[in-house]
Amino acid sequence: MDIQGRTFLVTGGSSGLGRATVELLNAAAANVVIADVNIEGGQRLAAALGEKVRFVETDVTSETDVERAIANALDLGGSLQGVVQCAGIVIPQKVLGKDGSAHSLELFTKGIQVNLVGTFNVVRLAALAMAANSPSSEGERGVIINTASIAAFDGQIGQACYAASKAGVVGMTLPLARELARSGIRVMTIAPGVFETPMAADVSETVCEALAKLVLLPPRLGRAPEFASLAAHIFGNVMLNGEVIRLDGAVRMPPK
Ligand SMILES: NC(=O)c1ccc[n+]([C@@H]2O[C@H](COP(=O)([O-])OP(=O)(O)OC[C@H]3O[C@@H](n4cnc5c(N)ncnc54)[C@H](O)[C@@H]3O)[C@@H](O)[C@H]2O)c1
Repeated sequence: MDIQGRTFLVTGGSSGLGRATVELLNAAAANVVIADVNIEGGQRLAAALGEKVRFVETDVTSETDVERAIANALDLGGSLQGVVQCAGIVIPQKVLGKDGSAHSLELFTKGIQVNLVGTFNVVRLAALAMAANSPSSEGERGVIINTASIAAFDGQIGQACYAASKAGVVGMTLPLARELARSGIRVMTIAPGVFETPMAADVSETVCEALAKLVLLPPRLGRAPEFASLAAHIFGNVMLNGEVIRLDGAVRMPPK
């Protein structure tokens, strides 16, 4: 699928990997709706990029919010061709805390709700809109890219919730692609390693340096435009479907 002139929804587009994706799509002359709970960052980015970019306050776990974001995409560009899902949260907590308490069930549920249920909520509603598109000569009506994490495969101590939520995103990639193929919709998942974003900035500098040393080549953290560039490649390469791509410089995370 050509990006130019098409319309995209980017969840979590106010910050980090999503923001870089919005910038790349905008530079390629696409229409973009930023769907995020971060109002300030989203509004500022949309204002800086101009009339082809619109911010819509959206909680990915809300049916009405996501319906409104998709309606805005249809209003902006006439139809919705692509989705990149970057909304996500980290819930770092051990099952057995130092203070003798067990992992908060409320927080575990929240992580699953945003990262997994939210991702599925956007998939189902975006697919409904895309299924109405006219197919390309290849039979393609739309492309959905979800974001997991390498934690889905090598989750560390304290990442039970985060790893489970991202493993859910990995697990639904193939069944979604298999079902939606008949509607002309490709579904792919990117599993990033550790990237320099505001999410990673929550981690201390010492931990970041230690993480960077684990990356084989290049020996550094990932940069958000590298994620955006892979998303753009996936949009353009019609053979990519139903697969999870690790984007991680060959890092394999140790237990802690
Ligand atoms: N940065 C990394 O190292 C890394 C590694 C692996 C996976 N990821 C994943 O990549 C995605 C993007 O992460 P990032 O590093 O850009 O983080 P980020 O914190 O910079 O951006 C995440 C965005 O998601 C938004 N968001 C959070 N909850 C939301 C909700 N309920 N509805 C809508 N928007 C919501 C936030 O407001 C924020 O703008 C996340 O899913 C994250 O788990 C990041």
